[in-house]
Amino acid sequence: MNRMVIETSVRQAGNDPIFRIAEAAKNRIATVGKDNVINSTLGALMDDNGNLVTFDSVYSVFRNLKDSEIASYAGIPGTPTFLNNVIDACFKSHRPKGYIRSIATPGGTGAIRHAIANYTEIGDKVLISDWHWEPYETIADENHRSVTTFKLFNENGNFNMNSYKSKMLELLNVQKRVLSIINSPAHNPTGYCLSDDEWREIVLFYTKTAKAHPEWRIILECDIAYIDFTGKNDESRRFMELLSDMPENVLVLYAYSASKAYTMYGLRNGAIICVAPNEEIADEFVSTCSYSNRGTWSNGTHGAMSTLAKITDDKKLKKTFENEQRKYKIILQQRAAAFVNAAKEINLQICHYVDGFFITIPCQKPKMVSEELMKMNFFIVELKNGLRFAPCAVSEEQCKKAPALIKKAMDSIEINA
Ligand SMILES: Cc1ncc(COP(=O)(O)O)c(C=O)c1O
Repeated sequence: MNRMVIETSVRQAGNDPIFRIAEAAKNRIATVGKDNVINSTLGALMDDNGNLVTFDSVYSVFRNLKDSEIASYAGIPGTPTFLNNVIDACFKSHRPKGYIRSIATPGGTGAIRHAIANYTEIGDKVLISDWHWEPYETIADENHRSVTTFKLFNENGNFNMNSYKSKMLELLNVQKRVLSIINSPAHNPTGYCLSDDEWREIVLFYTKTAKAHPEWRIILECDIAYIDFTGKNDESRRFMELLSDMPENVLVLYAYSASKAYTMYGLRNGAIICVAPNEEIADEFVSTCSYSNRGTWSNGTHGAMSTLAKITDDKKLKKTFENEQRKYKIILQQRAAAFVNAAKEINLQICHYVDGFFITIPCQKPKMVSEELMKMNFFIVELKNGLRFAPCAVSEEQCKKAPALIKKAMDSIEINA
């Protein structure tokens, strides 16, 4: 075949597997009705009737923006008020010490892209956990990098510090700089959250390693995509303060996403935020990431930035927004608890879940189990070594029923194997 694309851009045909299964679920709903289908596929908050949740507090502000404010360019780095307020939205009452700057990106995805493209060399490996959000691999590949993994869990189901540290050191010895992405709290796909003690140990490790090797560069990107649906109040942000006052060769970045927090998935809004050890590194971050904005998507979505800026600027609007967000956070936590308890009752093993949109059931032959579940009108995302259930998308009633169906499908595959 005479290809027109270059060798490194040859891609397999076909949709993203998550969107493909979601499409199959939609078709099944059209034939058997939505009450008869468990659609646990997309990572978006749905109400009990399977409709996408959109916050009134967000869309009343968005709809009242002037046409010209929506239509005009936002400026390459983002609008000044957004750039200021997104820092507050990210850290709330747990602002770390350091030189903090932000650049608008289209969602958290853009923030991950900028970190990979600017803080690793071409050909480098980015360190992520074995259970992970698949697009990290795509973004790395698209930018001529790749990923390598550490084991997320130790034998007690907590953060595998030994695996993380040894992989970091192995890479640092070879590459001399390492970007690692830690998706916590509310890790996708497991719902794991690192404890403050685990963060403390990571901070100690960075400090010791960085001081012993001033020529190395340690870059951490905290992917906090689901943070606003965790914990009771702000306690899941405490770790941010721990990541303060780093040595000169450690840089902490945050991938902030407004997709879930503001129910703005398609409006493509977010930011990359740095907590730099000195002003020079912070200034360098601003010029580099602004340049990357210009060279990729140019500007971000003005109307989405203005909406976030207006909500965070106005005490009353902010309160209404936070109340609405809290209401859905509680619903999500109740759904997840229903699944976790039902799984415990029947001894269905799950990865250590703490909070967030997803729960992982490790299993063999996930594709076969998922296909078996489809026969029962239950749609779930297959991972390499398990299944991803999404309480964000399924009613509490269905969350209660789901573990037994999963066990039944797993047992039937085991029997037929
Ligand atoms: C772990 C994780 N990180 C980042 C993102 C980025 O989301 P967005 O680009 O929509 O903000 C997602 C979205 O699903 C995610 O699951």
